[in-house]
Amino acid sequence: MLGRDFVSMLDLNPQSLARLLDLSLGMKRDGVGPVLQGQTLALIFEKPSLRTRVSFEMAMRRLGGHAIYMSAHEVQMGDREPPRDVARVLSRMVQAIAARTFDHETVLELARYADVPVVNALSEDEHPCQALADLLTLRERFGSLAGVRLAYVGDGNNVARSLAYASVMAGMDFVCASPPGFGLPAETLERACALSGGGSVTQLYDAHEAVRDATAVYTDVWASMGHEAELESRKEHFAAFRLDAALLAAAPADALVMHDLPAHRGEEITDDVIESSRSVVFDQAENRMHAQQAVLAALLGGSLG
Ligand code: CP
Ligand code: NVA
Repeated sequence: MLGRDFVSMLDLNPQSLARLLDLSLGMKRDGVGPVLQGQTLALIFEKPSLRTRVSFEMAMRRLGGHAIYMSAHEVQMGDREPPRDVARVLSRMVQAIAARTFDHETVLELARYADVPVVNALSEDEHPCQALADLLTLRERFGSLAGVRLAYVGDGNNVARSLAYASVMAGMDFVCASPPGFGLPAETLERACALSGGGSVTQLYDAHEAVRDATAVYTDVWASMGHEAELESRKEHFAAFRLDAALLAAAPADALVMHDLPAHRGEEITDDVIESSRSVVFDQAENRMHAQQAVLAALLGGSLG
């Protein structure tokens, strides 16, 4: 049902996405058994992390297995040795690899050469584990995802792309509002629109229009990791896309506030909005662990058949 790897949200289909979410909810509600006893996950991080590292380490621990964390300095992938060699060496010693990389091609190369499952822990192109946790958060709140309207305000980045694909497959309407030149790539829009599942993806350039009928309003940093040098120039482009009280007032009164974190308060989101009772950002963070337990159990324990 789930292929060998989870490097992109496109590795799922509407059925496997729904089953992963069911499994995540069940594991969160009922707890997990030691289904991955004796199994080890290698974690390779080319960029910093709080949530992703801890959620993978805790997911493995709760499932009875282990994780080995390796920083960029340690592995120096592409510098000390190519990703293909890293993949083949680790495949002889561990049962799965999760990697956070700058180039998406690096995680693809790991997957091509590894004999064990590879999970994308964030790349330039996608953050599928984040999107899975976000849909889990929405499922918990609304019971069903069909018809949920997710308004994403900001950069058409890795998080936005994975959310776009996941939304279509879950029967949701994903509306992305970005400054011109910073929206979802045309290729992402084409791919998302071709997916089954009954949802839709729309790219807008007006934040107020995007949030008007939203079930939840989501934002992410204006300059992702690796793009920090662009922040000052991006601030001008993104000023009208800040999730503040005025923008939230344009959304339905019960619309949720979402952010994958870390948040840059005062830039893409204001302190009052992220701290408001409508904010579910810490549910999203916790759900990273539950969603990844399901992914790891499915990839390594065969829980999805
Ligand atoms: N949301 C997320 O991936 O957080 P980290 O960068 O801290 O892992
Ligand atoms: N888009 C952000 C997500 C961080 C979790 C980045 O890539 O830095």
